[in-house]
Amino acid sequence: MQFRGSHILSVSQFDREAISRIFQVANEMAPYALRQQTSSVLSGAILSNMFFEPSTRTRVSFGSAFNLLGGHVRETTEVKASSLAKGESLYDTARVLSGYSDIIVMRHPNSGSVAEFAEASRVPVINAGDGSNEHPSQALLDLYTISRELAARGKTIDGMRIALIGDLKYGRAVHSLCKLLALFDNLHFKLVSPPELSAPDDIVGELAARGHAVQHYDEMSSGIHNVDILYVTRTQEERFPSQDEADRYRGLFRLNQNVYTEHCEPNTVIMHPLPRDSRSSAQELDADLNQNPNLAIFRQTDNGVLIRMALFALVLDVVDQVHRNARAVTWYTEKRDG
Ligand code: NCD
Repeated sequence: MQFRGSHILSVSQFDREAISRIFQVANEMAPYALRQQTSSVLSGAILSNMFFEPSTRTRVSFGSAFNLLGGHVRETTEVKASSLAKGESLYDTARVLSGYSDIIVMRHPNSGSVAEFAEASRVPVINAGDGSNEHPSQALLDLYTISRELAARGKTIDGMRIALIGDLKYGRAVHSLCKLLALFDNLHFKLVSPPELSAPDDIVGELAARGHAVQHYDEMSSGIHNVDILYVTRTQEERFPSQDEADRYRGLFRLNQNVYTEHCEPNTVIMHPLPRDSRSSAQELDADLNQNPNLAIFRQTDNGVLIRMALFALVLDVVDQVHRNARAVTWYTEKRDG
């Protein structure tokens, strides 16, 4: 795949070779993300970070990734703060913003809207989540985390067993992750959800067509047994037709330390795209797991910076220049463990 100047809209753009390239560049970004070195390779470049839906880690990590490469970040965080609220079309917004930016990251509540925006943009656009459709950078950072967690346990993605738990209907992170995992060999998927929130047929069909084993569960204990990875998700309340309907599913699946100890193999990796819903009525991933060393959720969020730096470096074609612009840091920096 040619990264230079490309929009990143869907994980369907990637094959295994492209994924390996992204992961290789992500590895190279570690000294900058860890503040052992700085690079000013994107000095003068401007990112427009457009988030028309709530976001903390995706927005901040895209912005941090761009800053870590020396670029400037401009942010718009609400529809009501932009001219979309005055009836401006995505086409016009894209034409205007691409006049002011070198690259645009966009999150929008409607499926397909980021692709529509990208068609009018004159600079590369990265999809940071479009409705329940896709979330490519999240899936890449999840896959990167999975490969590192499995490697630490002497395993590979090929042949692994994964349980995906929760709202598999509206969860765009799960949709993109399944499409990426489909590219690997002999996986075993356990899809754990209420029947009404099961994964879309096209995604399940693609997994089966590529020869992966797929099993469906509507209760958690047998679904989480005998897997390498647990990928827990939040009920995507904001996508339900009504709050009443969303309330029906909140709190149905809860993973806590007792459930983990009783049903999971030792060392099963626990992941979640975050945010986890910590309200007492939900708690799909209990805080009592925080001391469990297999909880990889904050390794996921840290890895998000590496993956997003890699995407910027590849799309803006500066990978080879990053290190040439490197400097040692001069201020106090120390990341404490934990
Ligand atoms: C996810 C999203 O926005 O799709 N969050 C994220 O970007 N890390 C998952 C979610 O909101 O539940």
